[in-house]
Amino acid sequence: MAKIVTGIGTSHVPAIGAAIDNGKTQDPYWKPLFDGYQWARDWIQEHKPDVAIVVYNDHASAFGLNLIPTFTLGVADRFEPADEGYGPRQVPAAEGDPELAWHLAESLILDEFDMTIANEMDIDHGCTVPLSIMFDQPSEWPCKIIPLCVNVIQYPPPTGKRCFDLGRAIRKAVEAYDKDLKVAIFGTGGMSHQLQGERAGLVNEDFDKAFLRDLTADPVGLTKKPHVEYMREAGSEGIELVMWLIMRGALGEQAKETYSFYHVPASNTGAGLIILEDDN
Ligand code: DHB
Ligand code: FE
Repeated sequence: MAKIVTGIGTSHVPAIGAAIDNGKTQDPYWKPLFDGYQWARDWIQEHKPDVAIVVYNDHASAFGLNLIPTFTLGVADRFEPADEGYGPRQVPAAEGDPELAWHLAESLILDEFDMTIANEMDIDHGCTVPLSIMFDQPSEWPCKIIPLCVNVIQYPPPTGKRCFDLGRAIRKAVEAYDKDLKVAIFGTGGMSHQLQGERAGLVNEDFDKAFLRDLTADPVGLTKKPHVEYMREAGSEGIELVMWLIMRGALGEQAKETYSFYHVPASNTGAGLIILEDDN
């Protein structure tokens, strides 16, 4: 039986990827952030998953305003880093798990989550930066990767509750898969940030810390937050946080917090990292 063993929530700020790629993690600006990541990096070396489902949003790399699927599951056997305008990041391509991904597609769609299926999809910083945050610079990523893209770019994104319920359906699907696999699920994006308009640069540390706390203290309460509250409190791009609720929904109710870290600033963003361990 496959099992969801851990949930990882992390920001996916592109400049964090650039700091790693360009050897700047010990620079005074970045050192406090990477010092905070170290415990999680050590932990995952001891708790390596076989597969990681990485929930993230594409930032007009694989999709654009011409095509805006709400939920997209990558079923390919390989995903290349996307060219986001300055050449693809020099990180390994992700090896997919088409068999598990098709099982997820079947289970989720028959469970009434109408997933878009991607046979070909380049992965942008939303997916590759969280992998670099956790695994640093290996020659190959240490596990298979199933990318799951969520539209949080064009209004209307899915609700927090819909995301949480999708997570629950992912858990059910994984548990019904008859191979012994340890599955990690990443929820990425956020935390508070706004990259546009009059409030560009907004960060709300209190909101972010409460969100980190409530992932274990009151996850169902988090699912009731309306979009407008994310916009008002966490900025226009803070809405990326609904993707963490897919991760949370995929874990058991009694999942426990193993590590939590928060740091400002990372580029324009409040950067959070949380590791949750399942209760099964
Ligand atoms: C930044 C953060 C993001 O989540 C993103 O997708 C792009 C940029 C930033 O903080 O600069
Ligand atoms: Fe983003």
